[in-house]
Parts: sequence; C-alpha cells; structure tokens
Amino acid sequence: MKKYIVTTLLFLFSGILVAQNIAKTIPGYKNSKLSINVRIADLLTRMTIQEKAGQLNQLNGGVFTGPALNDAGQKGKVQMVRDGKIGSFLNVIGAKETRNIQEVAVKESRLGIPLLFAFDVIHGYKTVFPIPLAEACSWDLKQIEINSSIAAKESAAAGLHWTFAPMVDISTDPRWGRVMEGAGEDTYYGTLVAAARVKGLQGNLDDVLHILACVKHYAAYGAVEAGREYNHVDVSRVGLWNKYLPTYKAAVDAGAATVMNSFNVVDGLPASANRYLIEDVLKKKWGFKGLIVSDWGSFGELINHGYADNEKDAALKSLNAGSMMDMESKVVIEHLPALVKEEKITMKQVDDAVSKVLYFKFKLGLFDDPYKFSDEVREKATLFSPENRAEALKAARGSIVLLKNNNQILPLNSSTKKIALVGSFAKSKEDLFDFWVANGVANDAVSIYEGLTAKLGASAVDYTAGYNLDNTTNDQLINQSVASANSSDVVVVTVGISGKLAGEERSLANINIPDAQVQLLKALQKTGKPIVVLVNSGRPLVLTQIQDLSTAIVQCWILGTEGGNAIADMLTGVYNPSGKTVMSFPYAVGQIPVYYNHFNTNRPAPDSGDGAWKSRYRDIPNEPLYPFGYGLSYTKFDYSNLQLSGNEMKKDGSIKVNITVKNTGTYDGDEVVQLYIRDFVSSIVRPVKELKGFQRINLKVGESKTVQFTLTGTDLSFYDENGNTKLEAGKFGVFVGGNSKQTLNGSFELK
Ligand code: NOJ
Repeated sequence: MKKYIVTTLLFLFSGILVAQNIAKTIPGYKNSKLSINVRIADLLTRMTIQEKAGQLNQLNGGVFTGPALNDAGQKGKVQMVRDGKIGSFLNVIGAKETRNIQEVAVKESRLGIPLLFAFDVIHGYKTVFPIPLAEACSWDLKQIEINSSIAAKESAAAGLHWTFAPMVDISTDPRWGRVMEGAGEDTYYGTLVAAARVKGLQGNLDDVLHILACVKHYAAYGAVEAGREYNHVDVSRVGLWNKYLPTYKAAVDAGAATVMNSFNVVDGLPASANRYLIEDVLKKKWGFKGLIVSDWGSFGELINHGYADNEKDAALKSLNAGSMMDMESKVVIEHLPALVKEEKITMKQVDDAVSKVLYFKFKLGLFDDPYKFSDEVREKATLFSPENRAEALKAARGSIVLLKNNNQILPLNSSTKKIALVGSFAKSKEDLFDFWVANGVANDAVSIYEGLTAKLGASAVDYTAGYNLDNTTNDQLINQSVASANSSDVVVVTVGISGKLAGEERSLANINIPDAQVQLLKALQKTGKPIVVLVNSGRPLVLTQIQDLSTAIVQCWILGTEGGNAIADMLTGVYNPSGKTVMSFPYAVGQIPVYYNHFNTNRPAPDSGDGAWKSRYRDIPNEPLYPFGYGLSYTKFDYSNLQLSGNEMKKDGSIKVNITVKNTGTYDGDEVVQLYIRDFVSSIVRPVKELKGFQRINLKVGESKTVQFTLTGTDLSFYDENGNTKLEAGKFGVFVGGNSKQTLNGSFELK
C-alpha cells in the first residue's frame, strides 16, 4: 500500500514537471488562461515592425478557393498572409472561404495570428431586412435591435467577425444615395437607433452569435455638399456638436468596438488625419478605447485632398492623428517600418494601435479557436431560416409609411374583386433590392406580385408592366395598363426608382418621379379608378407631381426579402401601417436641404398669408410635402388635453407632459406619439423644434390613453462650440402630436 502511494506521488510530481516545461514552451499569447492584456503584451514583444504594420493593414479579399485562388492577385495576397502582412480582410465571406485563408494565417505565418474578417452587412446578411432608413421609420427600437442581431447571427455563422455598420450620419439631403443607410434627419432619434443597432450587432461579444460593430462615418459625412458622394463638408463647430456628433457618441457609449473615419474634411482637416476629432473628442472626451479603421483608401486620399505630399506623408499624418487601421490604401504596410526607423512615429504609437486589433482578436476568441465563426453546419442552419424571415417580415411591415389615403381607399376591402397591378417594379426583384444587400439573393425575395397573388389568388391580380425598367414607356405599354385598369376595381401602381440607385456612389440630382411613370399615371387617372401608388426608393423622392394623380400613396422604401408579403399585408389590411417618416419629403429639389428642426432665421415666414420680405421662396412653399414624423394609419387618432405638471421647472428637476390620445377610427392601430421642445432664447440659437421623446402605443377602436413624458435638464440642454453642455434658464415650448407639424402646444419656464 505504502509503495503504491509513493509511486503515485512520484508519478504526479513528474507530471507537474513535464506540464511546467510544456507551459514554458507555449508562448504567452497562446495561453488562454492569461488575461488578454498579458497575452497582447507577450505577442507584441515577439512581433517585427513589419508584422505590426501587417496588423494595421486591411485589404479587400475575394475568393480563396478553387481556380480563383490561383489568380495572380489572390496568390499575392495569400503570400502576404503567410508573411504576416495582412491583419484583416474585407469582402471575404462564407464559412468555407474564411476558413481556407484563416488556415494559411494560423498555420503558415510565423506567429499564427488569426485574421479578422469584415464585411458591409448593412441590413441583413442573407435574410435581407428593410434598408436602415426604412427600418428607422418603424420607431420600434426593439425590432431594430432584433433586426441587427439577426444580421449579426447570420454573419457570425458565415465566418465574419466585423461589420461596417451602423452608419449613423445625420443627413438632410435625399440626393445623397447613402441616406438609405442611416436613421434620417433627426439627431435625438438617431442616437437611440444607433445604440439599438450597436447592441443588436454586438451583444456582449462573448458568443458566436454577435460581431463587432463599426460606427461610421466619423464625422459629419452626412453633410456632404449638394448631396454628392465623396464631396466636401463645411460645418460650424456648433453644428458639429449639436447636429452631427451625438449619434457617433451614442454608438460609442453603447459599446461600439470600432469606428470608421469618414472621407470628408472637418474644419479643413480630412477626418482620417483630424487630431481634434480622433484624439481630442473620440478618445479623450468620449473615452473610446476601441479600434479606428479608415474608410476605403481614405489614408491615401489625403493626397487628393491636398493634405499630404505622398503616400508616406499620408501614412504619417493619419497615424499621427490617432487613426489606426488602413483599409485598402496600403500606405501603412508600405511605409510604417521606415517611419518608425526615422523616428517620425514611435513604437509606442504603433503598439497602441496594434494592440487594439489584437484585443478584438483575443476578445472574439480567435487565438483559441480561429475557426470559431467559420462553421459550415451552423451557417447552413442559420442563414435565411424561417425564424429570420419571420422577423424580416415584421420589420418590413413596420417600415411602410402611408402618406395619403383619400376616401379610405386602403385597406382594400372585400368588394375589391380585381386589382390592376401596374409597373415593372411589381415583378422585378432586382430593383426591389439595393446596393448593400450583403449576401442576399434577389431571387429569394418575395416580389409585390408574388406577395399579392399569394394572398388573393392569381385571378384577382392582373399585372401589366406600364413602363420599362430603363424609365421609358410607350403607347402600347400604357394602353395595356389602361385596359387592365378599366376592367379592375382598383389600380395599384408601383413607381419610384430602382433600389440599385440606393447606397454608396448613388447621388442623384433629380429625385422626381420619372417622366414615364408620371405619363402612365396621367393615363390611368383618366379611367376614373382609384389609384394606389406604391413608391419604391431608398430615399424620399419628390412626390409633388403625383399628388393629384393618386388616391393613396404608400412609401414602401426598399423592404428586403419579405417586401412583397409585407406590402400585400398592408394593402389587404392584415397589417395596419404605423410607420412615420424619419426624413422630410421635399416639395421640390430646390428646397433641399429641408428638415423640421430648422432655425427661425431673422425673417421667419408666416405659416400663411403675406410672406413678403421674409425668408421664403417665391415659387414654392417653405414647408416640405410631408414633414418629419408624418405617417397615417387606417384608423384615426385624436390628440387632446395637453397638460404640463407645472409652469416652472428647476434645472435639476423635471416636468411631466401628459396628453390624451384616442382612437376615433374604425381599426385597431398603433400610433407613435412624439414630443418636441423649443428653447426660445439662448446663448446659441436653437432650432424651432427638437424631438425629445416618443412612445409607440396601441389603441383599440374607441380606446383612449394618457401618454406621459418626463423632460429633464438633459433634454433641455445643448452643446457649445467646445462640446460643453449648457442648460440655460428661460422659456421652453412643448409640442406633442403624431408628427412634427401638427401638434398641441404648451410652454414652461426653466428657472
Ligand atoms: C466605402 C464606404 O464609404 C464605407 O461605408 C464602407 O464600409 C467601405 N467602403 C467598405 O466597403
């Protein structure tokens, strides 16, 4: 027995010695028992400057299987991975593809540092959700978070670690194709949506269901002049702080792991090389600890801006301003070693930047399991699953905005036996999809025609094209649609512009309804049949010309995979719309930018009557066609009894705002009750209205509810030009209603 115990002890002891020796041979960064910071520190001591530059180098990927792998470009990239010269790829997608190239990084590079895979997952990966602008019109933060979480879940099953979303640029210019990516014109609402999207994408970053978010484009990219992509930006500091910066801050506060530099200048300095934005505001004032990535080529493009002499100078100026990862301009990988050697950049700066990249690789668990996200079985089970599509349908329904509904023509009732469905968009799936559809396949989407016929039967829907997809028409096409209209009870016409014109590099100077479609509508109107217009577009179009040519107008945006089903549900009353537009619809292009939270000016034009010598247009109204926050329901909501809990509020106190909302129509429905304020006199002039709260409520027919909001000092304060908040005593207006224009009004004094 004694002998047995001694032998066992000896055996255990020798085991410990062996284990200790093995532990000594495992580099610290591979030891998952150590803290992330210790692992990063260990790894940094082992890396050459070239390998460090590699971690800061992100390249466009491509396909890493089969014959494509032997393309000269791909071979070169594979070799760079072996050499540790690439830390991250964008546009390599799929469990198989990502695994293939990850294996090269892990098995064949000197230190085996895994790659980070990024992709523009803007509104869904395989299951395509409504464009972000549309989704924002739901005013449903919970659903928005769910939508992002599904986008993340699908991406995370397809080998991806990182998406370049959310885009939180505030923009008031629908000529800019990228308004489709944001949450509209309002800063306050934008902050809430930004936070919801970050939470949905990232969760706690401790599972295989979430990915890194990237807040973009920092900063003020939504202010590009004349809505032209990649154009100049010129905003005041006060405008920057109050209108543009809060959404980025909200995303950072919500824990966004990464931030993307914008292409534009801010205060004369390109954002990628703007120390004020990056060091002073983002890192110091907001305490951002994450990774900063350039936009595509934005380091190198400092040369075009006229801010850098050459590529080396561009790398120097970007890194010295606090930027970190270089997406695609390759100036860092080329020049960082020399810049360090010449002591223009310190090793500490390099290590700080590299440690951010490494941090997220560790945090995602890639050093312990580099293929964690590249799981073909999970990918198959997750992508385009029925559950994901069910959420996409909910999201699509909630995004629809009913702009006009004369004679309560919608929903279509049982006396509607035959529908003339007109317009090529009704069948074209490609045009119902936008530029940013990630891995979505247009053919998988449900067209409007399919959605309607599935609901009503093929014999109830008579489809005619009406116009060609190149925006031309002819007598034959128009006559066919007119004949169809004549033998139907109602005409449903799809108009607008192709979804392919929504997204990056899709600026448009003309955002009117195309002439061919107007011509078609004029012909259809002569039939005397009720005309329901469905607008397909990734931005608010100018709808002025079709106002009198339609009985109802529905803004359908670009609704994604489930678009056709959602539209059919809305038309038939299975779903009662409750979306409210988050961008004003201009009356004419010449009004742009037109937005609800404008300033009073020195000569405000009166709402009606003589506007002579006031700030006005001679030829068109100042007001947009449809204001921010506007959207109808099949039912009616009546607002009454606005009451404030007092006439005065102390700076550290609060005031309660109550309003009664009653459903006076004939359908149960949801209403988004909106609260706005106005700071009448202040040390920096403030807008005529500012959204400060909203609540989505459901009211049954005849039901009424009292909705309560609480205003505090935070809601009443604003930023000065240095980003300090100010809360000033004085008179405040309070406005509550179902949109930004029609409100009940009150006021109080802040003491
Ligand atoms: C350029 C776009 O501005 C940005 O939003 C996008 O994430 C990158 N390209 C990567 O595709």
